[in-house]
Amino acid sequence: MLETRPLTPRLGVEVLGVDPRAAIDGETAAAIRAALDEHSVLLFRDAAMDDETQIEFSRVFGDTEVTLKANPAGGTPFARQSNLDIESGEIIPPEDRRMRYQKGNYMWHSDSSFKAVPSYCSMLTARITPPEGGNTEIASTRLGYDTLDAATRARIAPLEVEHDIVYSRGLTGNVLTTEMKAQTQAVRHRLVRINPANGRHSMLIGAHAARIVDMAEDEGRALLDELLAATTRPEHCLSHTWRDGDTVVWDNRACVHRATAYDTVKYRRLMQRTTISGSPATIQSL
Ligand SMILES: [Fe+2]
Repeated sequence: MLETRPLTPRLGVEVLGVDPRAAIDGETAAAIRAALDEHSVLLFRDAAMDDETQIEFSRVFGDTEVTLKANPAGGTPFARQSNLDIESGEIIPPEDRRMRYQKGNYMWHSDSSFKAVPSYCSMLTARITPPEGGNTEIASTRLGYDTLDAATRARIAPLEVEHDIVYSRGLTGNVLTTEMKAQTQAVRHRLVRINPANGRHSMLIGAHAARIVDMAEDEGRALLDELLAATTRPEHCLSHTWRDGDTVVWDNRACVHRATAYDTVKYRRLMQRTTISGSPATIQSL
């Protein structure tokens, strides 16, 4: 059994007594995955990670994805969330394409939901944190689903939703190049999914959810907005204030998340994300 402490009454726990930089035995790894199934968000504190230890710890959850070329760390297992140039370490001007691209992170989303195989979970490690701002907010689509009435549950049960990063990035000013757009195409997923470990229903929604298949555009948009509003009620959310040395893992099957703003001219911030692929073993459709 893992020792844990709740982060909020209904979402997320801090894991105590596990150093994510150390070798994790099979039993502990299974307990960590079970805790993620149960709580959707795990926090590990005071364990500064480097790229090597993060890759190793990511293996507890599965295989890592390769990041889209649009990210400065594109082509590697890392998605870099930072206002620092990857080569020089200097602060990147706010008008630079790399900073505009990151504005997409201010919208609620599920990482990689625009991929044919949506993600199981993401791991974000804090390398350099600003003294204020730059929180990560996480909301439970599972708790959101639980608040829906029976008619809405029945209505959404058969639906498929199209996820498209060209759509979501268009919302922040179309910052994908033609080459980046060529790397991706819209994919269809079931809107409602079940975690086979516990039977809990969740919804695959967020900024990449462009449209409901076989539904009028405005009707589908209204429904997606309604489901996101049910999910992001304050009692379904947590807001994590980062400290250097934090590692947070969230369940992309059961959550949406977003970043909050910080002063990107004044403060330095460097976060590294790994994204672990989903599989039929971790995700079921209705
Ligand atoms: Fe994200």
